[in-house]
Amino acid sequence: MFQIIEFPVMTADAEVRGLPIGIFDSGIGGLTVLSAVHRRLARECCLYLGDTARLPYGTKSRGTVVRYALQAAEKLVERRIKLLVVACNTATAAALPDLQKAFAPLPVIGVVEPGARAACTVVSGKKHGGNILILGTESTVNSRAYDKAIHALRPDAEVRGVACTLFVPMAEEGWLTGPIAELTAARYLAPVIGEEAGHNRFRPDCIVLGCTHFPPLAGAVASVAGPEPVIIDSAETTAEAVEQELTRLNLLRQTGDSNDPPASGCLRFLTTDAPERFARVGGIFLNAPLNPENVELVSL
Ligand code: DGL
Repeated sequence: MFQIIEFPVMTADAEVRGLPIGIFDSGIGGLTVLSAVHRRLARECCLYLGDTARLPYGTKSRGTVVRYALQAAEKLVERRIKLLVVACNTATAAALPDLQKAFAPLPVIGVVEPGARAACTVVSGKKHGGNILILGTESTVNSRAYDKAIHALRPDAEVRGVACTLFVPMAEEGWLTGPIAELTAARYLAPVIGEEAGHNRFRPDCIVLGCTHFPPLAGAVASVAGPEPVIIDSAETTAEAVEQELTRLNLLRQTGDSNDPPASGCLRFLTTDAPERFARVGGIFLNAPLNPENVELVSL
């Protein structure tokens, strides 16, 4: 269960270490990343922004996603943060270099590289480069951002991508298991990995859930893919990357810092639309109840 409390008041001379980690996503799906960061770094405060008014990002053009991502990041930077996590795969694929440039020297971490690293670890024992299937939004798959990140680490890996657009509203609706979820997964995956693919059939060693909304649908994916492929999401590896970066920069909260951290870190939520819905659906992704009073409505 999360403890949700107000941030301590920041003074002008507050240590950077006492600032929260900023995390943004196009909506609520990035709460899976927040959850992993919070589990790993329980003493840290996190400020999460879900741009629910403009979801989905995944079907929009690169230019639009870059503009939205810059605006979302700016809102968090205005509130003062010590590190930015781009929890949205689509925004990471389209805008990570733009964000790193616009907000330098603020450290900015995306989800694609950690996800690619996790996939390469899974296939590292394979004699051939390993077969990796990326499931993402249309925009993420078309960007080939995962392909590039994987090939940088493992040039001989075979990478395929499938856009699973309907998974996003299904996850928002809470349709995560049962016949609708499984039929939808089959509709997307069977032409690539099923028998019907014939001699073009791709046999993945690893399936990357390259979208914030897909982890709750992992069971539906497995119902089509079978037990063999390892299914991974990048939330845990992203949280690990956040810890490594904060450690490297000596920015982890410590006892004795100004704004001495409470025993457990605090969480604050911003949304661009409908705080009540954010709290209701967000609870599914966080696996913990979320009080709408802790969700602030903002405009970008
Ligand atoms: N957050 C997006 C992602 O991870 C999924 C939802 C959307 O399309 O905005 O790609």
